[in-house]
Amino acid sequence: MQRIDRKSAAAILLPLSWSPVVESATASAPVNIALAKYWGKRDEELHLPVTDSFSVALDHHTTTTVRQAIASDDITLNSIPLPTDSPFYIRCVKFLDLARPSPSFFFSIATTNTVPTAAGLASSASGFAALTLALNTFFGWNLNRQKLSCLARLGSGSACRSVYTGFVRWQKGSSPDGSDSYAIPYDDWWPELNLAILMLSPQEKPISSRQAMRLTVETSPVYALWPEQVVKDTIAIMTGIRERNFPAFGQAVERNALMMHATMFTSTPPVCYWLEKTISSMNMVWQARKQGVELYFTMDAGPNIKLLYLQQDAQSVLSYFPQARAVTLLP
Ligand code: PMV
Repeated sequence: MQRIDRKSAAAILLPLSWSPVVESATASAPVNIALAKYWGKRDEELHLPVTDSFSVALDHHTTTTVRQAIASDDITLNSIPLPTDSPFYIRCVKFLDLARPSPSFFFSIATTNTVPTAAGLASSASGFAALTLALNTFFGWNLNRQKLSCLARLGSGSACRSVYTGFVRWQKGSSPDGSDSYAIPYDDWWPELNLAILMLSPQEKPISSRQAMRLTVETSPVYALWPEQVVKDTIAIMTGIRERNFPAFGQAVERNALMMHATMFTSTPPVCYWLEKTISSMNMVWQARKQGVELYFTMDAGPNIKLLYLQQDAQSVLSYFPQARAVTLLP
């Protein structure tokens, strides 16, 4: 297959030349939680996924301000300057290179997250989406949402879903340049849907999701089953939302997360993000379900659990999991 580098992929989205049209620009983007996961890339460089994925936005945001800097890129996260050798600084600069009008142009980036640091919610998706939106205003690009979604994807795959609120579907696309791999909003909302975070460990992951993704695609025999499963799960999730069929929705969401972890367990070497507390909490969810509480979970590349339930079950869920922290979903 024809390979396209990030600069060329970005050049398809951006105008021929640009310079700042304002002194500073600020934008916000929501955190999103995948209900059908993005797990595996068909193109590592452009973050093009093997499958579609489907997410819901949370009422937690990253807000980013972009300015021009004098001598080098400076990036602050929650008012603390990022060391220039930190992995996140390096990733941001690599992304900023796509927007840099000339090699002697530098950026000053100030980013704040409303996500409590210990909540275990990934902020790279909201972070790259907010940065993309702020750059769009800073340079007056006037890109439409589709292009903004593609550009955010070049920072972090799941960031392409954070340019929208509500339920969002990232369609994988098929073009080698990624121009048809962007998110689209799903035109339905479920006001009774609730999500709570079960924070089991604030510790740093033993292996990044990026590395784990690559390893599973390359070595897990179970990965061959994944693409077809995601199609089935995504359809079941979207139908569950349309028909307000919570058990069908919850089963598909939970199965999808477990299947993603099954691809990790079966990779060489195996990857396991679960802790004993993760397993006992899953058992507790299944126990609660047996006792008639409609409760399901999802989890990402980490040990923490996100509980999903309807408003009518909120009291019972919190009696099983008093330490769970309910988070507002954003239509
Ligand atoms: O966008 P990345 O590279 O941070 O990968 C996200 C992977 C998962 O969070 C596990 C799944 C998803 O769809 O968000």
